[in-house]
Amino acid sequence: MGVRIRPMRAADLAAVSSIEKQITWSKRVGSLRKHLAAMLKAREGVCLVAEVDGAVGGFLVGDVAPWEFGEDRQVAWIKVVGVDPRHQGAGLGKKLGQAFLKEMRARGIRRVKTLVEWYSGDLVAYFQSLGFDRAGAIVLERFA
Ligand SMILES: CC(C)(COP(=O)(O)OP(=O)(O)OC[C@H]1O[C@@H](n2cnc3c(N)ncnc32)[C@H](O)[C@@H]1OP(=O)(O)O)[C@@H](O)C(=O)NCCC(=O)NCCS
Repeated sequence: MGVRIRPMRAADLAAVSSIEKQITWSKRVGSLRKHLAAMLKAREGVCLVAEVDGAVGGFLVGDVAPWEFGEDRQVAWIKVVGVDPRHQGAGLGKKLGQAFLKEMRARGIRRVKTLVEWYSGDLVAYFQSLGFDRAGAIVLERFA
């Protein structure tokens, strides 16, 4: 299995969207594609795909927050990561995460954050394998 991590292109969006549909039950499936198309067009963020034998098998999208309360340096966020169920557990997610972290280090960014639902044990284990640990902040929310 030949795996290659490379920047996402507009031509990858159908495959990314298909992976999203397979791994999430969100009613908002579809909005990711629109947002990614806009990000790629504006050259915003860092959008990566993992190619398996030439086909998109996973993706990771992150960006750099220009400022953040309490931080004196830029902070990067991993917004979404997903691997085709047929390829999960084969190291694609790890390669995508490591590529993103390498890119952030190259940009001089020292802190990378992500939000994970507390019940998503698989995502927590995945991020822990990349060296992430629980942060001190908590998220508050309410119904509008
Ligand atoms: C979580 C996910 C990104 C991991 O990618 P992957 O390619 O399957 O994972 P890898 O094979 O690269 O594994 C990397 C590490 O994560 C751990 N991991 C991955 N999936 C795991 C799971 N389901 N349970 C426990 N640990 C897991 C592995 O044990 C491995 O750890 P190690 O390096 O210490 O051995 C992928 O399985 C996925 O897309 N799951 C669905 C996620 C989702 O719902 N995303 C939408 C919202 S963001």
